[in-house]
Amino acid sequence: MSVVRPRGTTDVLPPRSERWHLREERFREVCRLFGYPEILLPLFEHAELFQRTVGETSDIVVKELYAFSDRSGRLLALRPEGTAPAARAYLENGLHQGPQPVKLAYIGPMFRYERPQSGRYRQHTQMGIELFGAPEPGADVEVISLAVEYLRRESIADLTIRLNSIGCPACRPAYRDALRAFIDPILPELCEDCRARHGRNPLRVLDCKVERCRQALGGAPRTQDGLCDQCREHFGAVRRQLGVLKLPLEIDPSLVRGLDYYTRTVFEVVHHEAGSQHALCGGGRYDGLVEILGGPPTPGVGFGMGLERVLDLAERLEEGTPSSYRPELFLAVAGEEVRDRALTLAAGARCAGVATTIDFGTRSLKAQLKNASRLGAAFSLVLGQREIEAGMGCLRDMGDGSEYPVALDRLVETVRHLAGRKD
Ligand code: HAM
Repeated sequence: MSVVRPRGTTDVLPPRSERWHLREERFREVCRLFGYPEILLPLFEHAELFQRTVGETSDIVVKELYAFSDRSGRLLALRPEGTAPAARAYLENGLHQGPQPVKLAYIGPMFRYERPQSGRYRQHTQMGIELFGAPEPGADVEVISLAVEYLRRESIADLTIRLNSIGCPACRPAYRDALRAFIDPILPELCEDCRARHGRNPLRVLDCKVERCRQALGGAPRTQDGLCDQCREHFGAVRRQLGVLKLPLEIDPSLVRGLDYYTRTVFEVVHHEAGSQHALCGGGRYDGLVEILGGPPTPGVGFGMGLERVLDLAERLEEGTPSSYRPELFLAVAGEEVRDRALTLAAGARCAGVATTIDFGTRSLKAQLKNASRLGAAFSLVLGQREIEAGMGCLRDMGDGSEYPVALDRLVETVRHLAGRKD
């Protein structure tokens, strides 16, 4: 085969596609409960949006942006994430002028030129929320608890919320200087990535996963020790309120996250089976983001959750769950002369809400019925000349083989009645 899908993309085949939609619906339901309506955003934006916000020091922009010039020479980028586009839309559509806070949810694909591996794709899907206009710690707590509530509904237990505060523009420069002073003498011991990051943003060195770097950074000044009074107070209140909700917290001073717009709270939700490098969800506060885009000072906080990662984990945890694609009724067609009647019967049944599969019909009845079992159909009905003339058929319960006479013009009611009796 000469054309295959691009590296890092996936085809979502049934029945996974069905489980996928179930995840989306569950997420929408939780967003509804918390009051986050959905915003639909473009899949591409001006590249500058991400350069100015996610940042010139982040891997997402430096190494991973799918940027291209369009036919008019504009530099565009497939969106690598949803926060900057949501902030752009918040400002561009004047939502900052209405009542605050503004709560938004989104679900959709993101694109990053990453090295593909399990749980890491070049096109992945995020379910996310953004909350604009609320500086209070309670906003951070609401955002985190929405993520946890969603994962609880996915029956994903044993979660850990890794939490940290990386300060604000008032306290971070002094901390950054202290960190740089600590790292400078040990720089030759660090990996190549760390050495490159150190110059641009030494905080990023803290979350390096290379063991040698982690050891060398053991005694580094901790982000929390560099916080100003307001940031410390905010962080304390977030921790306390999360504690009230009894959410599983782990304060992690090495958590800094790879996007430049974060201020104060940063967090990730991890599950031990998914691996610590594969967070299910990541987020934080970004109080300067709207201002960077030319808007008024506006606090914000949110998260993005990797749908594929949630689905991979849920599938692993509930291994062997059968597909729920099951026709309620399978129509086997015996002879081309009855096909028209079979078509109208199938159309009527579907119209009435009965999931119906019709065989396209040149194969033997035996083969058709075998197909009905393979699909897990609840009932089958053979339609031949005799049934059409009599207006009666024989409905077969595919589970136990029992058979019921059925008037064709009462097919839907009979299927419903029999199915109801089995429930
Ligand atoms: P992020 O941590 O880069 O944050 O991505 C959020 C989540 O998307 C990750 O925790 C992960 O589950 C999933 N994800 C990211 N990259 C990939 C990938 N290559 N393959 C599969 N899944 C992936 C953000 O994007 C921020 N915009 C989140 C946020 C919203 N912060 C505040 N508001």
